[in-house]
Amino acid sequence: MGSFVVAIDGPAASGKGTLARRLAERFGLAHLDTGRLYRATAFLVLQARGEPGDPAAATAAAGRVEPALLADPRLLGEAVANASSLVAAVPAVRAALLAFQRDFATRPPGGACGAVLDGRDIGTAVCPDATVKLFVTASREARAERRFRELRQRGAAAIYGDVLQDMKERDARDSGRRAAPLVAAPDAVTIDTTALDPDQVLEFASDLIVRALAVRPGQG
Ligand code: CDP
Repeated sequence: MGSFVVAIDGPAASGKGTLARRLAERFGLAHLDTGRLYRATAFLVLQARGEPGDPAAATAAAGRVEPALLADPRLLGEAVANASSLVAAVPAVRAALLAFQRDFATRPPGGACGAVLDGRDIGTAVCPDATVKLFVTASREARAERRFRELRQRGAAAIYGDVLQDMKERDARDSGRRAAPLVAAPDAVTIDTTALDPDQVLEFASDLIVRALAVRPGQG
């Protein structure tokens, strides 16, 4: 039997990362924030003074991403976030990062019995057979407000209007690209978090997971 995989997709700052982390903790699953792979790729391109939209530069950088880089705080800034959606539109970049993600899902590290992966294309492309698929979304204004507060909390000099504008551009790029665009899988459960707090989102998603665990064949 394959491992228990929870796929969580959604736009920037929709709350999918927080949800993924908390579900992983609660159910003892390994967690991979797949956005970090694209951010790391973008970071390496920018560090080499390359163009994130240049397919050759982006693909070479994707091949140099090491797991240790994924935890680097330098990946968290808005410049890297914007560049990450440019490298993410390059099909060869997505192909280069696929094996790592699938491996994580099928053989979760640390002996975990399953994994939570969050991103844009987990339920549609990376793990189409995931046990549970969630699509987490929220209004663009709510998402921009959350990202603005996160950036301020980290001490970055963010301006709300700029964050909102960046988010609009990134949403359009992520949803409009030809390679694995951001879209809910037909069998995903959509959670609109605009008016929900993180605890409510966690409880709602936990119920779905408890139910999926209960109907799993071959348990016990
Ligand atoms: O944290 P935030 O939601 O702002 O972004 P992220 O999840 O770190 O992802 C950064 C960028 O990587 C996104 O805007 C996408 O362009 C890209 N990405 C992707 O294409 N596919 C994924 N599975 C995850 C991220």
